[in-house]
Amino acid sequence: MAKKKIYVGMSADLVHPGHINLINRAAELGDVTVGLLTDRAIASYKRVPFMNWDQRAAVVGALKDVVAVVPQDTLDYVPNLRRYKPDVVVHGDDWRTGVQARVRQDVIDVLAEWGGELVEVPYTEGISSSKLNAAMKEIGTTPDIRRAALRRMLAAKPIVRFADLHTPLSGLVIEKIGVDTPNGRREFDGMWASSLTDSTSRGKPDIEAVDTTQRTTTLGEVMDVTTKPIIYDGDTGGKAEHFVFTVRTLERLGVSAIIIEDKTGLKKNSLFGTDVAQTQEDIATFSDKIRAGKAAQQTDDFMIIARIESLILNQGIDHAMERAEAFVEAGADGIMIHSRNKSPDEILAFCGRYNQLDNRKPLVVVPSSFNTITEDELAAHGVNIVIYANQLLRSAYPAMVHTAQSILTHGRSAEADANMMPIKDILELIPGTK
Ligand code: SPV
Ligand code: MG
Repeated sequence: MAKKKIYVGMSADLVHPGHINLINRAAELGDVTVGLLTDRAIASYKRVPFMNWDQRAAVVGALKDVVAVVPQDTLDYVPNLRRYKPDVVVHGDDWRTGVQARVRQDVIDVLAEWGGELVEVPYTEGISSSKLNAAMKEIGTTPDIRRAALRRMLAAKPIVRFADLHTPLSGLVIEKIGVDTPNGRREFDGMWASSLTDSTSRGKPDIEAVDTTQRTTTLGEVMDVTTKPIIYDGDTGGKAEHFVFTVRTLERLGVSAIIIEDKTGLKKNSLFGTDVAQTQEDIATFSDKIRAGKAAQQTDDFMIIARIESLILNQGIDHAMERAEAFVEAGADGIMIHSRNKSPDEILAFCGRYNQLDNRKPLVVVPSSFNTITEDELAAHGVNIVIYANQLLRSAYPAMVHTAQSILTHGRSAEADANMMPIKDILELIPGTK
């Protein structure tokens, strides 16, 4: 009698005894095909895997009981099950609750179409990919892995979200904070090394007065304690002759991308709009700066993203589009379009036009002013990177001011207690403090 066809779906990023247990059990039942989730499928409900599909397939394919490895493009098993019509699906019993419960029910329903069955193997206690993932984070990362992470995320996720970085502590918030939603765990994908929040937290104005050396000091400290990718706010990028050195420094550190804005003269924060004098750089000069940066970089991973200030300066969509086309032509790996309008309409109109470009590159937006639009809506308009550029610092500063005022008002700190973390928690916040 022909052996039964067994299907096992897995990510297999950090292969551990739980996976081997599952495959051993599956092999007792018949010929094992592993439906190996693609990076895109995994990223739809948790982080982008450490190893890409080909690397994971090489590991799983080498296991002696695995007969075939096929890509599974969605967390949903149904398309692959209809295609391969296995007699049995084997899975750990840990998917009965949480984000995969729905997926499990669909598996049971579709197997019923041809009399297939689901066999669940008791979860291997004491080891899990999530625990290993946490342990990997303790070990840290390398500049090469961190730098490449942004391009890998962009390939695997419809939209990625970054938040403002100004201190190692803000980096740790971005690194660690997550929420569980019905669609899986949601975290920030990486850190935006904002010029505004780095300058502000140093008590200096956002006018390129904090120089690259100081900004990279912040980066070094942040990188000591985090693993997620970083996009660096390069302001104007300075002179092309200097920009090439900034590119090399950032690349060596393991930063994934720099965004430079098409302004010239003394830089002022964009959110002032036309309230202050701001001059846009001419297209040819800025394109030369992009070209110089691209020629200087050493890896294929690093990205130079051109930021267009036309909408900030009320120049309109045609003006912005002419620049987008020119900057992509000059070699920019992405475009950031900025606006300080309350309404997202002009940004969305730009997206519509930009998406038509044949050589379209990833699109970045910073919804500080037009903040009612959701990530899902932005993604539906083709936005690839959303940056929450200053919200962490804007919430931290008022909290400190309130506490300072409370202490001054009452001549003691008891009244401020309710707004503060307990002493025990601050002592335990950073591992190794005790
Ligand atoms: C920053 O965060 O420093 C930025 C974004 O450049 S904005 O402040 O909106 O100009
Ligand atoms: Mg800035």
